[in-house]
Amino acid sequence: MTDFTPRFSLQSEALACEGSNVWAVSDRAHSLARKGEDVIFLCVGDPNFDTPEPILDFARARLGVGRTHYSPAAGEPMLQRAIADIESRVSPHPCSPDDVVVFPGGTNAIYAVLSCLLNPGEEIVIPEPMYIGYVPICDNLRLSVKRVACPAEKDFAFDVEAIKAAISEQTRVVMINTPVNPTGAMATPAQLRALAAYCRKRAIWLVCDEMYSMITFARRHTSLRTAAEALDNIVVIDGLSKSHAMSGWRLGWAVARGPLVDRLAQFAGATIFGCPQFIQEAAAFALEFDSYFVKQMCDAYERRRDLIVARIGRIPGLGCYSPEAGMFVMVDVSDVAASGQEFAEALLDAERVSVLPGAPFGQSAVNHVRLTLAADEVVLTRALDRIERFVTHRCRQVG
Ligand SMILES: Cc1ncc(COP(=O)(O)O)c(C=O)c1O
Repeated sequence: MTDFTPRFSLQSEALACEGSNVWAVSDRAHSLARKGEDVIFLCVGDPNFDTPEPILDFARARLGVGRTHYSPAAGEPMLQRAIADIESRVSPHPCSPDDVVVFPGGTNAIYAVLSCLLNPGEEIVIPEPMYIGYVPICDNLRLSVKRVACPAEKDFAFDVEAIKAAISEQTRVVMINTPVNPTGAMATPAQLRALAAYCRKRAIWLVCDEMYSMITFARRHTSLRTAAEALDNIVVIDGLSKSHAMSGWRLGWAVARGPLVDRLAQFAGATIFGCPQFIQEAAAFALEFDSYFVKQMCDAYERRRDLIVARIGRIPGLGCYSPEAGMFVMVDVSDVAASGQEFAEALLDAERVSVLPGAPFGQSAVNHVRLTLAADEVVLTRALDRIERFVTHRCRQVG
């Protein structure tokens, strides 16, 4: 019998080559924890709250009445309506349920949108630091990614002029994220309006990932769809993973206009063939009756942010600014470490705290580490005690 040599598609090869180093520190932390070490994990962005009980009850009830069958490719009408209501609430542009396509999670929504908008080799402009998850999607679709730096010196602020300067004749799509994972930076409505108008003039799509839209502290998020004057080149992506502590339910969506909605629905039909009925209905319920839970979780994230920012501010050698939104704090370690990577590795070795190095998010974050807010205050306090001890010891050795 001849040997079988497996051969794979270029698409899957691109994923196999993709930055396997991203989670190296965290993987090592997990293996230490498996050996019984007392490791504190501050690396993931998975909410540490349970999905609110009324949402669980509603899902159970829908399971009980047999909502376990195929669902329309674009989504259950009840959920499309709930999402359209949210998008219409403060917007000058009413949103129709027909403008909404539901996907199993934000990642899948992004994948579907980019699949419908770009061919392999075509250019997408993305500001960095950017969500790590964009990299495998763009690799898999074999896109040419042009990164736009939002430097740490300017608190990673959203920079419309820099994005405009990066747009070339080759650019087909600009993809932004507000509030940003990992920095918590937010675009203002005026910035969104200006960028949308510019992209439209250049006949470019503008995709906005708004996954943290409901986790904001001082000021509320404004959707690109609300800020933009015209909607025909606009796509907004959001979901329930973060805001409703429903990461494992896999529920996200894209809101667009006209022929793109049809393409997205066709793409969803071909690749997913409808999300589970009972999950979509529980998601609709969550969106309609959510204000209490979402506020409670936001308040907790805000307290945790304040705790981290205050403690980091008192540790000589470390620096951070106070993020306006999201689930993370970026800590500048440039005075005490060769890079975020070196800091994260040494911190894990010395104190068994696992944080994410900034480099995989982009060059601008290379001297930072990302701390999650998805840990309660007791855990955060213990972690910050260890971080303080680690840095103090390090500075003493160098001094
Ligand atoms: C900015 C951003 N977009 C999209 C996603 C993916 O969301 P989901 O877990 O719903 O796939 C995440 C998850 O961390 C994220 O941070």
